[in-house]
Amino acid sequence: DDVLSRTSAIIEAHKRSEGPLLPILHAIQEAFGFIPEDAKPLIAHALNLSRAEVHGVVSFYHDFRSEPSGRHVLKLCRGEACQSMGADRLADELKRALDVEWGGTTADGAVTVEPVFCLGLCACAPSAMLDGEVYARLDSEGCEALVAEVRR
Ligand code: FES
Repeated sequence: DDVLSRTSAIIEAHKRSEGPLLPILHAIQEAFGFIPEDAKPLIAHALNLSRAEVHGVVSFYHDFRSEPSGRHVLKLCRGEACQSMGADRLADELKRALDVEWGGTTADGAVTVEPVFCLGLCACAPSAMLDGEVYARLDSEGCEALVAEVRR
């Protein structure tokens, strides 16, 4: 099957490098958009780890997803500077407007909302990132624009 053969090829390409687990996981997420459950036992076997160890690493890093994301990915900064500028309230507004929780994807598959802890734009807090593009000094209007953007 496609997941297994592509996963095996990725493992093969990385397994002799030093500390291969993270590079393998990144490559798998790049290939599939998330870490398929079926990939974990293969990785565990190849690297001589338990499945629980692989699973633990996948859930520890916010970067790795266990499910495919929506068509857009909206990352909202929850870092300290952004929090102090009202990021929590904005995040609540956005999550309510899109009807999702952290890490969730809207029912129509339009967008996945994820937390991020500092985008390096603290001076222009609160900030967010939509599909890799950053948005600074977010206010309610900015949030509405983001929602409109992902709903298009
Ligand atoms: Fe949000 Fe730094 S804390 S950009």
